[in-house]
Amino acid sequence: MTLRGASVLLTGASGGIGRALAARLGGAGARVTLFGRREGALREAAEEVVRGGGESLVVTGDVRRPGDAMRAVGEATERFGRLDALVNLAGVAHWRLIEATTDDEIQEQVDVNLLGVFWMTRAALPALLASRGAVVNVSSFAGRVGVPYYTAYAATRFGVIGMTEALRREVAARGVRVSLVLPAAVDTPFLDKAGREHALGKGPAGVLLSPATVADAITRALERHPAEIYLPRTHRLFALLDVALPGISDRILRRLLRYPPAT
Ligand SMILES: NC(=O)c1ccc[n+]([C@@H]2O[C@H](COP(=O)([O-])OP(=O)(O)OC[C@H]3O[C@@H](n4cnc5c(N)ncnc54)[C@H](OP(=O)(O)O)[C@@H]3O)[C@@H](O)[C@H]2O)c1
Repeated sequence: MTLRGASVLLTGASGGIGRALAARLGGAGARVTLFGRREGALREAAEEVVRGGGESLVVTGDVRRPGDAMRAVGEATERFGRLDALVNLAGVAHWRLIEATTDDEIQEQVDVNLLGVFWMTRAALPALLASRGAVVNVSSFAGRVGVPYYTAYAATRFGVIGMTEALRREVAARGVRVSLVLPAAVDTPFLDKAGREHALGKGPAGVLLSPATVADAITRALERHPAEIYLPRTHRLFALLDVALPGISDRILRRLLRYPPAT
């Protein structure tokens, strides 16, 4: 897909990766609809789009509400005349022992990380079928390899991977391309809830990615439509090891994550 002039709807636009992606898409000349709950942060991301030379539209709403998803798609298509791509980037994680995870934390992760992707994708699909467009779902490395203390997050991110694979195979013949991006830890406010100290040196990632690196990968997915992008790329080998030899994977992860959360 050529990004210049493309109409792209982005959830999670107010977050760390979303902001970097807004700058990247603006620089490529895209027309970006920025969706999220915090209007001020969305407006700042919208400024990044315009500064780069793109066009922007801010839509406030909650991915947990199917009606908000429909409204976001409606406003994007009304403003830009079409929708060429949806990037599902909104997400939240709580780093917890399973017995310490609250009802609200489990519910929020399921509602935002899994159902939110469903509501947005289902709402956008008619417009994407019309434009023969693209979907990019941002899951996580923790959605391919189960990581201790992220049981609820893992369940939702594994769910997104299953949904993305099924969707990719379902809509390919109708001209919609679907990609998955699987980052390890990224240096954003997300890590404040998700166990920053684990990510920094002790975590499963062993590396801390910059938001710009992930934004570049999402941009690549929009332009070239690969099935999957692992960040860092070498993590694909760990995912293969996890399937082939889960006992060895267990030992590595237990060693890397031998620092449980306080609660
Ligand atoms: N950072 C990492 O280490 C990491 C690693 C792997 C994967 N990821 C994935 O990358 C994505 C973006 O993460 P980030 O690091 O940029 O996180 P972030 O800075 O915390 O941003 C999270 C984004 O999700 C949005 N969001 C959360 N709940 C929402 C809701 N109910 N309705 C609408 N939007 C909602 C937030 O928008 P509002 O608050 O404005 O609603 C915000 O834009 C997430 O899906 C995450 O799972 C992150």
